[in-house]
Amino acid sequence: MTNDVRTLEWTGDGLCLLDQTLLPGRVEYVVARDVATLVDAIRRLVVRGAPALGVAGAFGVAVAVRQAAREGWDEAARDAAIAEVREARPTAVNLAAGVDRVLPFVAKGADAVVDEAQALLDEDVRGNRAIGAFGADWILRRVGDRPLRVLTHCNAGALATAGWGTALGVIRNLHERGRVELVYADETRPLLQGARLTAWELAQAGIPCAVQADGAAPSTILRGLVDVAVIGADRIAANGDTANKIGSVGVALACAAAGIPLVVAAPWSTVDPALPDGAGIPIEERAAEEVLAWGGARTAPEGVDAFNPAFDVTPARLVTALVTETGVLEVSAGETPGRARA
Ligand code: MRU
Repeated sequence: MTNDVRTLEWTGDGLCLLDQTLLPGRVEYVVARDVATLVDAIRRLVVRGAPALGVAGAFGVAVAVRQAAREGWDEAARDAAIAEVREARPTAVNLAAGVDRVLPFVAKGADAVVDEAQALLDEDVRGNRAIGAFGADWILRRVGDRPLRVLTHCNAGALATAGWGTALGVIRNLHERGRVELVYADETRPLLQGARLTAWELAQAGIPCAVQADGAAPSTILRGLVDVAVIGADRIAANGDTANKIGSVGVALACAAAGIPLVVAAPWSTVDPALPDGAGIPIEERAAEEVLAWGGARTAPEGVDAFNPAFDVTPARLVTALVTETGVLEVSAGETPGRARA
């Protein structure tokens, strides 16, 4: 994270998480020293964003191994606790991948798990720097080498990763080169990751930003006010179909209609090569209260139901470019992640 605020950090006896539910008003931390606290934090979005969930999952295994030793659990109880962390949220493949990455170290003990989780954290920050540079290079070549108007959705920044960010990593890189005129940050209903988190990060970095309602985004794009949209991803199928925060599809459709690029910025750990296309991506459905109420006060009439999918799937044909830590794939032109890795 920037300005001395860390998204997540191992403290020696637990995982310290910046509580993103309280931002931007309060900077407070939750320290997870047991599995129940960590799983609750993941479900409540104290920690969120696909790469950050991957790192949290990896450290979560260390939390489980330490708790098992402390409380005298047998292997079955320890493994069940690890599975609970792995399944705390379904859509971002990084969570399960982060857990799986450190499993071979469990037999060596908690310190070995922590070392591997820390390696994942460090790789994530390095990878995001590379994503930022590849993405900015591609955009300046493709769109024009001038200050640009960029739209982003949800939060794919330092808060959603171990640092720097994916989509916001691209925007940060463009800003360092003096190539950002304005960032339109979609507010991102229902939990306002754009208004609360992306705007907070951009303001801290001194990047000009305007928060807009999600419903404004397609119109802003069609009116010619946006040069490029850059978003993150939670899971990408082999053909390039991309799951990201609900509302991303509207942005993608508008980009296609307006003839501007939709750039997806994500590490290879977000690609799920086991899925041929997006139809198999599990879409998390969250609590009705998230859309029927705000700040604890009911906003919809009593007795009304809600439909609250947290993610949508943008078809590969609408994804102009996928920027990873190894370079750029022009997905809608046929350069799919599955083919690139075949
Ligand atoms: O529900 P969230 O806040 O975890 O959703 C996060 C997103 O959709 C992000 O855009 C995505 O994980 C990419 S983060 C680099």
